[in-house]
Parts: sequence; structure tokens; C-alpha cells
Amino acid sequence: MGNLFKGGLETQPNEVTIEELPVRGHLPGWLNGALLRTGPAQFEVGPDSYRHWFDGLAMLHRFAFADGRVSYRNRFLQSPAFRENNALGRIKYADFATDPCKSLFKRVASIFTSPEYGGNGNVNIAQFGADFVTLTEYPLAMVFDPKTLDTLGVYDYEGTDAQNSTAHPHHDRERDLGLTYAAKYGITNEYRFYSMHGKQLTSLSTIKVDHPAYVHSFGLSGRYVILAESALRLSSSVSLALSGKPFIENFEWTPEDGSRFIVIDKVSGQVVVEAPTEAFFSFHHVNAFERGDELIVDLIAYPNNEFVNAGYLDRLRADGAGIPGGELRRYRVPLNGGRATYELLTTENVELPRIHYDTYHTRGDYNYVYAASVRRGTTDFYNQLTKVNLTNGTVSVWHEDGCYPGEPVFVPAPDGRAEDAGVILSVVFDSQSATSFLLVLDAPSFGEIARATVPQHIPFGFHGQFFTDPIAV
Ligand SMILES: [Fe+2]
Repeated sequence: MGNLFKGGLETQPNEVTIEELPVRGHLPGWLNGALLRTGPAQFEVGPDSYRHWFDGLAMLHRFAFADGRVSYRNRFLQSPAFRENNALGRIKYADFATDPCKSLFKRVASIFTSPEYGGNGNVNIAQFGADFVTLTEYPLAMVFDPKTLDTLGVYDYEGTDAQNSTAHPHHDRERDLGLTYAAKYGITNEYRFYSMHGKQLTSLSTIKVDHPAYVHSFGLSGRYVILAESALRLSSSVSLALSGKPFIENFEWTPEDGSRFIVIDKVSGQVVVEAPTEAFFSFHHVNAFERGDELIVDLIAYPNNEFVNAGYLDRLRADGAGIPGGELRRYRVPLNGGRATYELLTTENVELPRIHYDTYHTRGDYNYVYAASVRRGTTDFYNQLTKVNLTNGTVSVWHEDGCYPGEPVFVPAPDGRAEDAGVILSVVFDSQSATSFLLVLDAPSFGEIARATVPQHIPFGFHGQFFTDPIAV
């Protein structure tokens, strides 16, 4: 048992600008814009190594499309973590599962002062007004130039002192308003939701909680904000400050306490209902909508927190390694009280879900979920892309032996009427050549229409967005 994919977890030191990538197939003439992605790309600093896939120093990637051609550029995000760690030749800033071992004095001091954030925005990208920003789970976003990928500085939120945030804010289409989540740990622990007015965060809802769960994303329906509280919970906020353990290792899997959905009115901020359910773990919401006196919450869930453990680099790089596949679950949350229950929407193992968000998010008639997935019966990294038809349960798959695709980003065709009229863009690691390519699938048929080859590997990342905004392209 070898490990074909471990090359996708190696540092990529080269920053390149390639005006035109070689393309096999034909890019659609209407595909104009830029796919901007982020992900970890440096896993060692001097003698120190990051311990987890989620920790590596961020690199930005830009695929820009025009007139049937595509260019590529990549640059490291010049965050405080990147600059100071590399200047020092050591890892100075803590991350998800790596902690540079502060002294006890500094740990105690950090309870009373704001912790230092490194701004290592390796999780997601967003556009806030005219600013393009990188996001991670700390509330320190970095602004970058969407054309050159030069880092421009810190995005200064106002109005929050939270320690933990989300890289998955939502856009409330009805009100053209951003919504985001944060957690505050301290003498009391709080889940917090904010509306975003430019850089100003305005409190929408604050929910006190004894043992806050690890939260990666949240849901939004037409009327409600939804917190799916997993069973991976902070044992003690004092230990978070003093334990000497990295952030995520202060959270304990506590299935005996179950999970719950907290449903919040998106306008008043009032908690409408709390619905308990059996314990699960989740990173990603997919979609949510109301149906009669029920709230439907589609998300990717796991029966335990094994994914977090499987993501440690020594385990992921080992022979025979694999990543647990998630379940696409449809939860029914009764708005009048009672337990939440779920059904599986597919038997495929899926993660990194995407939908036609701009038009179909919060809509009950949405029908397609795109995801990276692990072929059933294999122990492997994400080795196929999957399109799930929610109406009839059919699944379309793209797979090529030895190839490892990342998040499938749906780009709608400008004149398309059907939900799936458009293309799927995914960065794929080819283990045979140890390089990556950008895969373009026809979204309706899920067949390949083009691939653009990059002369080096792009380490496995997490999320990206496609922009047709003229500022970006
Ligand atoms: Fe994510």
C-alpha cells in the first residue's frame, strides 16, 4: 500500500506567472473572469514543521480566463505569519493544530490581552465591497490585489473582539447583506452572529454556551440563521489559554451530549428553536430552506471527529492513508419543537460541497450539489468529483486513476436558464506527473471539456471563488 497523493501535501516554493497555459480541449468562449483560490503551500519553516493539513502557510492562486485562453499566477500571502515566521526561521504564530509553545507567563498574559493572529488566510476568499480578502478561522482577514495577488494589508473589522471566526460568511440575497459568525471564549463563552456593513460588524445575536462546539460554517435559510452544533466541544476556556495544546486539541468529542440545531431569526436575532439530535461532526453547510413548519438543513456530516485526526500530516502522508468521506445529510428541524432527524441524500462519500449559490441558495427547489469525494470502497484522498441530483438521487462522476481533484466551483453560463447551465472548475493533482491541472467540466453532462496544465504542483487547498467583477479580471 503506497500513497499516491502525498505529493499534493508537499511545499510549493515557486511563485510563477504564466501568460497562457497549454489547454487540452476547448474553453467556452463565454468563460471570462478569474478563479481565485487559497490553500496551504509551505509546511516547514526552518527546523519547524506544521502538523496539520489545515496549518500550512497560505498561497494564492489565480486562473484568469479570456477569449478561450487561461493564465496562471501564484503568490504566497504576505501575512504576519508568513513574513515573521520566515524572517525568524521558526514557527512563531499558532494555527489550527500547531502551537509554537509560548511560555506559561505569555499564556496567562494572553487571557487578558488580545491574542496575536497571524492572518494565515489559507481557507477561503471573499469580496467585501471593493476589497478582496483571504479568510481563515481567526478574525484577521488579509486584503490582496485580485490581479497581481500582492498582499495589501490587514482588513480591519470593527466591532468584534472574538477569538474564532468562520471562513464561510453568507450573503443574504434579499437584503444584500453579509452575515458572519464568531466565537468568544473567556469567563463566559459565546456564539456570536454579526451582520456586515463594510468593515463594521453589527451584533445580530449572542448565545451563551458552557462548552462551545468547534464551528466551521453556519447555515442560512430565507428567514433563519442556523448553527449546527457538533459534538466536538471546548472542554474549558481556561485550558484553551493555558493547556499548551494547539487550538483544536482543546476540543473533546462528547457524543453522549448529542448535537443540536440552534435556529435564529435572521432579522431580530432571537433564538426561535433549539432542536437536539444525535451527535455528529460537520465542517460544511450546503443549503437550507423552510418547508411548512420545518426547516430543511442540508450539510456534510460525519458520525465522529475522525476527520480532524486524519488530517495530521504524518498520518496523511503515510502509506495506506485516506481521508474519511462525509455524508450528505438532509436534516428536518421542526420549528415548533422536537428532535431533528435526517436522511441521506446520496450514499457517495462527499466533502467540499458547492451549489449554484447566487441563485439557488435558500431555495427549496434547488437540485444539484457538487462535491469532491472518495470512491466507495477505497481508502484514499479525494479521488473523484461528484454531482448529486437531489430529485432522483442519481449521481454523475468524474474520475481518472491517480488524479486528486479539489473543490468543484460552479460557474453559471451568462445566458443559462437551467440550474446546472455552466461549468465546473476544479484544481486536480496528477500523481503521475506530480503536477496539477485545472479541470473544466460541462456541468450538465459532467463530462470533461478542457484541462489546462500547470508546470508544477498546487498543494491541496480548500476553497476559492470565481469572479466576473472587472476589478478582479
Ligand atoms: Fe471550509
